[in-house]
Amino acid sequence: MSKQLIVTSALPYANGPLHFGHLLEHVQTDIWVRTNRLLRNECIYICASDAHGTPIMMKAESEKMDPEELVKKFTIEHERTLKEFHVNHDNYYTTHSDENKKYSEIIFLRSQENNLIKIKTIEQFYDESKGMFLSDRYVQGTCPSCGAKHQYGDNCEECGTKYEATDLVNPKSIFSGETPSIKKSEHLFFDLSKQEKKLLEWINKTSLQAGVKNKLKEWFNEGLKPWDISRDEPYFGFSIPGFPNKYFYVWLDAPIGYIAILDNFLSKNSPSISAQELWNQSEIYHFIGKDIMNFHTLFWPALLDGSSFKKPSNVFVHGFMTLNGKKMSKSKGNFLLIDDYLNLLEPDYMRYFIASKLSDGIDDLDLDLLDFQKKVNTDLVGKFVNIASRSQGFLKDFDNVLSAELDEDLIDEFLNKKDEIFNHYIDRNYSKALKEIMTLADKANQYIDFNKPWILKKESGNKEKIHKITSTAINLFKILNLYLEPVVPVTSEKIKKYLKCDETIDNVSSYMKNHEIDSFSPLILRIEDVEIEKLMEISKNG
Ligand code: MSP
Ligand code: ZN
Repeated sequence: MSKQLIVTSALPYANGPLHFGHLLEHVQTDIWVRTNRLLRNECIYICASDAHGTPIMMKAESEKMDPEELVKKFTIEHERTLKEFHVNHDNYYTTHSDENKKYSEIIFLRSQENNLIKIKTIEQFYDESKGMFLSDRYVQGTCPSCGAKHQYGDNCEECGTKYEATDLVNPKSIFSGETPSIKKSEHLFFDLSKQEKKLLEWINKTSLQAGVKNKLKEWFNEGLKPWDISRDEPYFGFSIPGFPNKYFYVWLDAPIGYIAILDNFLSKNSPSISAQELWNQSEIYHFIGKDIMNFHTLFWPALLDGSSFKKPSNVFVHGFMTLNGKKMSKSKGNFLLIDDYLNLLEPDYMRYFIASKLSDGIDDLDLDLLDFQKKVNTDLVGKFVNIASRSQGFLKDFDNVLSAELDEDLIDEFLNKKDEIFNHYIDRNYSKALKEIMTLADKANQYIDFNKPWILKKESGNKEKIHKITSTAINLFKILNLYLEPVVPVTSEKIKKYLKCDETIDNVSSYMKNHEIDSFSPLILRIEDVEIEKLMEISKNG
């Protein structure tokens, strides 16, 4: 039976262009969505810009723009970039929307009715000349533990000690450079510990990844602390009903954005069902990076539960992408924007490489540009497309019409791998799926090598045999093309045109016999050294 799925990638902050870490996440999600669709599950894949918070407000200020304008600019840019990578969102929206304001208020008010909101006065650094409270990242000072200078207010990058911002020795505001004062302010807290039992129930019945479960165990052992969901003005966000001059912390309204994006999608496409109804009837899957696990596996399910929304069916966590073995960092000259890649190479190449690195674990993965070149040239060009390139020339002698005689046992062997390969995709073991597919591609090439049609042509002129071998190879190629479709959708589409065959999961098992194909085999160009050198150069310049 087909299922209804709501699938999300984390909402990128709208204060800068997307980099390869973001791309990894969207490609991972898109492959999963495409696989589900291929298997006839109904998916709604949604995303948006995360619009709120202090960094966006400060960035807008430095660009002399309104935050709304800044967000709009990056939302358009992000959506375009991801589209070029064939990432197929059904709706790419923004968290700065009427819908999101509505759902943030609903969820807050329901939490309040359920006694999950507490008020507490806290002391925080305050920049007098800027007229603003300073969050941990906006204060720098000397580490109270090891004495390292220029450390932020949350933890020391040198010795790893965690502390309160007010523990810093000689603290300074990063805006004015002045010593901040300490000021009291009332804050609203979501009482996470009250949801402990519900959270444990959810964790136990959800098949979270081992790495995620371990992290959760750590957090539960430390004890669930109240979560500060309010910020003082000036703040770019939604004001809190009943609390003048207080705003929802960006991480409250950001995940609620998932529901709001769905609402916006439904109002355009299917107004007869409400977002809450569809949300509660669907399976919900969030793809995220490991740095935002606590928001998605603690606060988010706790918020949903406290306001009668369904909790996620699963949260799929991936590791971080490094570039050429090192952390991606603009300031350290190790950085690559997605747009720079697009000027040089096909999106499908990078999709293939990313997929070949992805498993269901949360380990980091490296984008090594030389490794990327080798992988694409060896697998996609050398193994996969080679099957067609080697067969095409012989088929010209038969007017590009495939034989009625095929090595059906070999074709069936390829078909029998279908479930195993698609299950790997559904389990997010993309690297395993691609390994299986490339083992089959090797087998197809070995079949051609073993039968040597070029020798047959020269020596015996056994036309029927040549026809059978090359037609069988094209049939194998067609099957592998469907197996690769979620990963390299545009290449796959081109190949279908070449094969004159609209292949789907329903008709993959039928043999192509007496079937005319195009006279030119599809060309996938090798990645040349110069292209990689150019990318290397760009990544060093940051
Ligand atoms: N706005 C929040 C998400 C809100 S979701 C309700 C956010 N934005 S982000 O732009 O910083 O990151 C968006 C996603 O990209 C996150 O899942 C994050 O983990 C992922 N990545 C950011 N850098 C990354 C790498 N270097 N590698 C892999 N993923 C990374 O967090
Ligand atoms: Zn230190």
